[in-house]
Amino acid sequence: MKTLTVALPGREYDILIENGLLSQAGRRCRAALPRAGRVALVTDSNVGPLYARLVRESLEGAGFAVEVIQLRAGEQTKCAQSLSGLWERFMAFGLTRTDAVAALGGGVIGDLAGFAAATALRGVDFVQIPTTLLAQVDSSVGGKVAIDLQAGKNLAGAFWQPKLVLMDPQALTTLSDATFSDGMAEVIKYGCIWDGEFFSFLEQRPCRERIMGEIEHVLYTCCDIKRQVVMEDERDTGIRMLLNFGHTLGHAYELAGHYERWTHGQAVAAGMVRAARLGHTLGVTDAQAAGRIAALLEQFGLPVEIPCTPEQYAAAIGLDKKGAGEDISLILLERLGRAVPKKLAKAEVLKLL
Ligand code: GLY
Repeated sequence: MKTLTVALPGREYDILIENGLLSQAGRRCRAALPRAGRVALVTDSNVGPLYARLVRESLEGAGFAVEVIQLRAGEQTKCAQSLSGLWERFMAFGLTRTDAVAALGGGVIGDLAGFAAATALRGVDFVQIPTTLLAQVDSSVGGKVAIDLQAGKNLAGAFWQPKLVLMDPQALTTLSDATFSDGMAEVIKYGCIWDGEFFSFLEQRPCRERIMGEIEHVLYTCCDIKRQVVMEDERDTGIRMLLNFGHTLGHAYELAGHYERWTHGQAVAAGMVRAARLGHTLGVTDAQAAGRIAALLEQFGLPVEIPCTPEQYAAAIGLDKKGAGEDISLILLERLGRAVPKKLAKAEVLKLL
């Protein structure tokens, strides 16, 4: 088993990575939650039928009383109505402040259940059991939990670190190719921003089968980078912003597709290529970066260009908001493996885009 520790003062937790870990959820959670009697296990209609029984039985075997709460799969579930529904279900189950919430699923379930855990009874312990590649390499680590509002995604939330993150790579075998590729956009991002050797490692394994052949190493490398970033800047005021490489322009593409045409990973993929090209135009990014990123993304069926209007770019960089400031801090690459924030005039960025 591979183990990483997120060493935040007073809120330290482990990320465990091993095939078959779902069936060990009980004893792993017992070690991390010695006082808990009840676990509210939140999942969705895709993941629940596949894995909820296995996890519930494992938790019950370790002495927890378990309530499985299965919600409809999809981004629309990450809303205030689902949040209040979870609070009510927790209370009906008799959850107390020494009990815990566990999220079994992808980013939507992790973000929603995490925010419910952060706010129910002014905060109860939380365990992340991510089952998508995107959730394993990104959203389950670092404590950002949230719901979407009408005004935009993730606009109400908290920093609420889990007590434990359990990653079973076998859970990835039931993902569609499209959902697997979505997560690969974030995997490739870590190579871009932090580790050029890891980027080359991925270039040498340009398909799902080859990545799955070394998935523990891939998960470990990504989570180790995220762990280092979060330990230095938990509250996202400094270095954590490097994780937004490709995300600002990706937001423009999500807007352009009305959050339906393009998944998050697809939008981030095109956003990373556009940011690398922009960086080259600005004399920040080396000449090969954009081409190598695009070639690798294409191997995983991800888009490297998405049509977008100037108005959508303006909305994504905040140029459409009065009083939002003239400048934007955009994450650019110097080269593969090294990202830097650059303060730029929004009007200039829009002109170049
Ligand atoms: N997903 C970006 C972050 O956790 O900061």
